[in-house]
Amino acid sequence: MSIRIRLLLSYLAMLIIPLVLLAISFAVIVSTVLGDLDSVFKLDTKNKNPIAAIIGEEADIAADIRLRAANDPDSLRDRTQMQGYSDKLQRINMGLIVRLGDQVYYSSPNIDGTDVAEHLPAYGQPQTEHDFRSGWMLDRQYDVTFKDGSKGSYYIFLNVNFLNWFAAKFAKMFLISLLVILVVVNGILTFYVSRSIIRPLRSLKRAAGEMKEGNLAYQIRPESRDEIGELAVAFEEMRIKLKGSIDVQLQYEDNRKDLISNISHDLKSPVAAIRAYVEGIMDGVTDTPEKLDRYIQTIHKKTVQMDRLIDELFLFSKLDLKRLPFHFEEVNLDSFLQDCTEEMQLDVEKRGVKLAYESPLLPHPANVIADREKLKRVFVNVIENAVKYMDKEDGRVWIDMREDGDNYRIVVKDNGQGIAPEALPYIFDRFYRADPARNVDTGGSGLGLAIARHIIEEHGGTIHAASEPGIGTVIMISLRRTDGRQSA
Ligand SMILES: Nc1ncnc2c1ncn2[C@@H]1O[C@H](COP(=O)(O)OP(=O)(O)OP(=O)(O)O)[C@@H](O)[C@H]1O
Ligand SMILES: [Mg+2]
Repeated sequence: MSIRIRLLLSYLAMLIIPLVLLAISFAVIVSTVLGDLDSVFKLDTKNKNPIAAIIGEEADIAADIRLRAANDPDSLRDRTQMQGYSDKLQRINMGLIVRLGDQVYYSSPNIDGTDVAEHLPAYGQPQTEHDFRSGWMLDRQYDVTFKDGSKGSYYIFLNVNFLNWFAAKFAKMFLISLLVILVVVNGILTFYVSRSIIRPLRSLKRAAGEMKEGNLAYQIRPESRDEIGELAVAFEEMRIKLKGSIDVQLQYEDNRKDLISNISHDLKSPVAAIRAYVEGIMDGVTDTPEKLDRYIQTIHKKTVQMDRLIDELFLFSKLDLKRLPFHFEEVNLDSFLQDCTEEMQLDVEKRGVKLAYESPLLPHPANVIADREKLKRVFVNVIENAVKYMDKEDGRVWIDMREDGDNYRIVVKDNGQGIAPEALPYIFDRFYRADPARNVDTGGSGLGLAIARHIIEEHGGTIHAASEPGIGTVIMISLRRTDGRQSA
């Protein structure tokens, strides 16, 4: 859920939940103060509803006065009777005043001494609902004519102050519960919403701290699917990219160290040999012209080897730094391979190996985009290896080319010594030689296939090897075709 929607929902919840809780608390307060909630609205006197009870009690007294006024009016003149009514009325926050003639004859103690007695309505002119300053309200008036003809009035009052107090108490309870509900609901919602934002932000901060310290292995997992989750995903992508580029840097650094150590090693051996032979000559070891000639021949061989090694190194480093310009053009692969084979045939066969290329006899020219010179270098290196690592009397190298979807696949197969499976994955690495002795006489620098792979990759192609020790090796090269059937 996005942060925007979460904030919107929490805002709605902050409105709705307090309203619902307030309604519930209203019901709870009303039912605890007034008894059963239902009875408040029904005014059912059977239930413990104080308002209903007040109304009922008051109605009983009123009925009693009316009955006595009709049947036995004189009994209403009795003080104990008045006292009885007054006691009952006082219990329900009401009061009684009895006036006989012009004189107030009886007044409930709770009304006594107020302004009420001064403003009593006259006999025969009932004036209910008269409010007095002291908080009393005239509820009923009963006029009585006694047997001797004298007149009296019964006034029943209700203390409105009591209702005010009741309302104030209610309002206070409501206000307090409203405050409590608002504080609790808002607090809980704010806590959860902010936690859902702050927690992932904290873990992002921790991750950033780890990255700052150089720990790029610290993984960032998105904790939510909101904007912060998206930020965490972007952060993780950035970390992976950064780690990748630093790993590549480190790899380059390692490679550079390897390269320097390998170059030193490979240059050291011929230089040491040349030095030994030159020192031999200087010491007069070559006492015969034949011996001298042999020494000079060896020195020459070593310098040629060094020259070749330096050439290869130069080519490789230029390829590695991508500083070697490529001159791409459309090349007919079939005729290119024929030319290559012809050119190398003589030299290869002089070394006792048969080289053959089988043309696929395609109905169309087998065109690829290539740099002729560089591509030739690839085949020279591969065929050179096939001849160099040949251990059979009947040494053979077959070159074969065929269509393979959008590519042309060239296979150079030999029946030489083969490559051990554990060495196979590394033969395209620079300076890698399956021969652990690194004997300079049987091989070169271990750069031949690394150069070949670089060149093929610059062509957008692939180069792989398969081999079976003792049986032979197959080098497979794929190049993208540019003739009619190419898909894009
Ligand atoms: N046709 C093959 N038969 C057997 N082993 C091979 C063959 N081609 C390559 N290898 C093995 O793979 C290694 C790497 O070959 P690569 O051409 O890169 O180096 P190299 O031949 O040793 O030296 P360079 O080619 O620089 O003179 C070789 O040392 C050899 O062990
Ligand atoms: Mg080689």
